[in-house]
Amino acid sequence: MSHSATESKATISAAPAYQPPSPVLDAWDPLAPSDDDVDMFAAAQKREIRNILKSYTGYYDLFSEMIQNALDAVEKRSAENVQGYQPEIAINIDIQSNSVTVTDNGCSMNLQQFKRFLKPNFSFKDGPATRGSKGVGATYLAFGFNYLRLATKPTTGTTYSGVLKDGRTWLDDGKGIIPRPTVEPQSDTSPLDHFDRGTSITLKLVGDNIRPKSLQYFIAKDAQQWICLLRAHTPLGGLYLCSETPPKIKITVKVVADKGEETIGKMEAPRYLYPHEVLGKTADLREFLKDQANRAAKNQDLAKIPPKFTNLNGMWGEWTGTEILSGATPLNPAWSAGEKELMQELDPRIYVFMCYSTDLWDDYNDNVLKLRKGTRICAAGSSRQQSICRKEIRSLFRSPIT
Ligand SMILES: Nc1ncnc2c1ncn2[C@@H]1O[C@H](COP(=O)(O)OP(=O)(O)OP(=O)(O)O)[C@@H](O)[C@H]1O
Ligand SMILES: [Mg+2]
Repeated sequence: MSHSATESKATISAAPAYQPPSPVLDAWDPLAPSDDDVDMFAAAQKREIRNILKSYTGYYDLFSEMIQNALDAVEKRSAENVQGYQPEIAINIDIQSNSVTVTDNGCSMNLQQFKRFLKPNFSFKDGPATRGSKGVGATYLAFGFNYLRLATKPTTGTTYSGVLKDGRTWLDDGKGIIPRPTVEPQSDTSPLDHFDRGTSITLKLVGDNIRPKSLQYFIAKDAQQWICLLRAHTPLGGLYLCSETPPKIKITVKVVADKGEETIGKMEAPRYLYPHEVLGKTADLREFLKDQANRAAKNQDLAKIPPKFTNLNGMWGEWTGTEILSGATPLNPAWSAGEKELMQELDPRIYVFMCYSTDLWDDYNDNVLKLRKGTRICAAGSSRQQSICRKEIRSLFRSPIT
């Protein structure tokens, strides 16, 4: 194409056609619900719930979410500082009916909260001290399973109660055939009859595509076994280290076994199943080091180790970040300036347990808890993790420990 031809084309298209002025819009809220996008909103909500469920992959998640909410609720009520209040949590594990109920005498919910708390991303918790905060745990319980009974008692004489069925079935229905389930009101207030206030949640394992499918999966049949499992895998095993004290909460665990036998176990506080308390003869590494230092000061033979530090299954210790930074502990990591700053800011606690073999957990599993052999329901990490841990722990100590 010649230069002049291009020029003549440009001249023809240069005369603009008349354009009416563009309309100027008012400000609008792109997130405001509008009447015509109800269906799209419902589809988006389903996607949102599916995404939430993707983050729940563990077999203990249902227990963790229920227990976590109960612990937060009693702590919130404790913070009201009303004299005479004694926090209580009752956990009922019914293997026969495949259901778990967690009831607390905590802060409870008002009607508005009760009607909304199963929605994704709704949380009424405030402050950094609560265990939950994302507002997704209750959504998982409601739509990750097919039966959730919920009851809350905000004041004596008022209990709101209802059942949501087929949450998971609705969620998995890609064809849009199953209508969104509603919470059907219930008149039964029994789980909360013993409490002046509180909340009770029952989850039943029914229907397809749920995990676990049955409480039999856990093998445990009595309250003591279940307490150990929950302490090892859920917030019932709170970590309170270096003179932190766990909150005093009366916790009762009742288990109904598959043939109907009932057992009850009690706890005074949520506390982790610390290996040094359950894995046989163990000693405090700090005491051992103190003993060695004393004997060194007296020029005594360090190889003559007192019997309480011999034939051990393991040794343990716990330290604060401040203690570690002060150099007064056997931990001697090479901190970068940034890591030091982080340690100072957060003052974390570290718990260390070293044992001669992780088979100790298997022994505890099989012979003490008497769970089915080889199930390794209580176990240390994978062998890869273990070897990494061993390496890291070894490198943390200045000198080899006998
Ligand atoms: N046992 C309970 N007692 C009182 N309120 C509760 C209880 N369980 C749930 N709630 C209320 O319902 C809200 C939603 O619960 P949900 O478990 O979904 O969220 P969360 O605990 O705030 O955060 P997370 O997703 O981290 O668990 C909570 O913020 C709390 O206000
Ligand atoms: Mg929660």
